Amino acid sequence: MIPKTSGRPPALWKHHATRKTRAAYSTITVLASFLAMSPVAQGADPAEGRKLATQCKTCHGLDGIAKIPIAPNLAGESQIYIEKQLKAFRSGKREHEMMSLVAKNLTDQQISDLAAWYQSIEITAKMPE
Ligand code: HEC
Repeated sequence: MIPKTSGRPPALWKHHATRKTRAAYSTITVLASFLAMSPVAQGADPAEGRKLATQCKTCHGLDGIAKIPIAPNLAGESQIYIEKQLKAFRSGKREHEMMSLVAKNLTDQQISDLAAWYQSIEITAKMPE
C-alpha cells in the first residue's frame, strides 16, 4: 500500500492520506446532498406538467387515462415511478419505438413536472363484484 519510493515516513503519509480522504468524503457529501436536494429546490410543478402533457394526450390522455390500448394509464401513478421510466426511455435503458422518441428531448425539470401532473390526478378503482 505505502509506496517504497515515496521517501515520506509512513506516519506522515498516513496523515496526508487521511486528510485527503476526509476532503474527498466531504466533497462527496456536499455533492450528494446537492443532488438529493436539487429536485426539491427546483420544485416539480404539476401545472407546468399539465401544459407539457398536451404532447402525451393522444396516447395517455390529458387525464392520464390511456387513449390507445397499447399505452398504459398514468393517472395516479407515482411520481417516482414515472420519472424513473421517462429517464430510462431517455437514456435508452428502456426502449419503445414511441416513448424513446418522446422522452429523448425532455429535460429533468420537464420529466419532474410531467410526473407531478400525472401523480396529482386522483383515481378510484372499482373491483368487479
Ligand atoms: C404515440 C403515443 C405516445 C405518446 C405521444 C406518449 N406515449 Fe408514453 N407510452 C406509450 C406507449 C405505447 C407506452 C408503453 C411502452 C411499452 O410498451 O414499453 C408508453 C409508456 C409510457 C410510460 C411508462 C409507464 C409504465 O407504466 O411503465 C410513461 C411514464 C410514459 N409513457 C409517459 C409519457 C409522457 C409523459 C408522454 C408525453 C411527454 C408520453 N408518454 C407520450 C405511448 C405514447
